[in-house]
Amino acid sequence: MQSPIRKKLMDAFTKAEGEFLSGQALADIAGCSRTAVWKHIEELRKEGFEFEAVKKRGYRIVKTPDRGSEEQIKPGLKTRFIGKAIHYIESVPSTQKIAHTLAQEGAEEGTAVIADEQTEGRGRLLRSWHSPRGTGIWMSIILKPQLPPQRAPQFTLIAAVAVVQAIEEVCGLSPEIKWPNDILLNGRKVTGILTELQAEADKINSIIIGIGMNVNQKAEDFPKELQSIATSLALEKEEKISRVQLIQKVMEKLEMYYDLYMEKGFTPIKLLWESYAVSIGRHITARTITGSIHGKALGINEDGVLRIEDGAGTIHEVYSADIELN
Ligand code: BTN
Repeated sequence: MQSPIRKKLMDAFTKAEGEFLSGQALADIAGCSRTAVWKHIEELRKEGFEFEAVKKRGYRIVKTPDRGSEEQIKPGLKTRFIGKAIHYIESVPSTQKIAHTLAQEGAEEGTAVIADEQTEGRGRLLRSWHSPRGTGIWMSIILKPQLPPQRAPQFTLIAAVAVVQAIEEVCGLSPEIKWPNDILLNGRKVTGILTELQAEADKINSIIIGIGMNVNQKAEDFPKELQSIATSLALEKEEKISRVQLIQKVMEKLEMYYDLYMEKGFTPIKLLWESYAVSIGRHITARTITGSIHGKALGINEDGVLRIEDGAGTIHEVYSADIELN
C-alpha cells in the first residue's frame, strides 16, 4: 500500500486536474519537507509518471502510466468496499497467493491484489496462467460473504457476469461465457476466473476471486501453444485498451452483482449468466476427472452446476470439467 505522504501528494495532483502545484503547497498538503516532495516525485517518475516542473510555478502531472496501482485506480472508483484497499505489486509469483495470506491475516472485504506481472500465475485445474509484464490485468479480490461453503461456486458466475459487462462497457465488445469461467471473444479465451476458498465446515471465511484478463497483448506475445486459443481485448478491438478503466469497471460491476446476489439470491445472476453463455443448448463434451460426458447442455441449476442430457436421456450434473463445443 502507498505511504500516507504519497497518497496525499497523489490526491492533490488528482484534484489539481493538470494545473501546477507549488513545491511548498505540496509540502504543506503532505505534511513533509520540499525535499521529501521532490524525492517522491523522482520515485513516481521512475514508475512512469511524467511531470512538468517549472520554476516558481511548481509541478504538474502530464501523464500517468496505465497500470493498476492504487493511485491510478482510486480516483474515480465508484465502489463502497471493493478496491478500498489495493495492494499493487510490480511482479509477484501469483496474486492469489498474496490474497490468501492477506485474507488469513484479516484483510477487509473488498481488498484487491493487483500485479503488473505474475511469474507463477495459476489457472484452473492446476494449470499455469501466462501473465506477462505490462499487458494484462492480474488481480485477486477478497470477499467475505456470510454463507455456507456450498454457495462458493456461484461466485465464479457472479464474477463472469461482472467481467463480461465491464468488457462490454469499456471496450464496446460482446464477449460470451463458456461454462464455468472462460470469457471468449470470437471463440478465443480473453479472460479466466479462478475462485478459491478459505472455509470451515459450515461457513466461508474468504473467497478469493482471481481474474486474469488479456488486455493489450499482441498475437506474438502469446506462447505458441496459446496463439490459436487465446486472444486479447486490444487484438479484437484493434486499439489499445486502458487497464485502469477496466479494473475500475470490473470492481464496480462485481460489487453491484455481489450486492444483488446477497439481496435477491442466485436467480437474477443465473438468468444474466445464461444470457451470455455460449454452451447452453449446444452439443458439448465435458471432460471431468472421472471421464467424458457427451450431450446437450441444458443450463445451470440453482448451484451453478452444469446440466447435460446425454443421448440416452440421462441428465448429468457436472461440478468441474473442461468443456468442448461440438
Ligand atoms: C483459468 O484457468 O481460466 C483461470 C485463470 C485465472 C488467472 C488469474 S490472474 C490473477 C489470479 N492470480 C493467479 O495466479 N491466477 C488468477
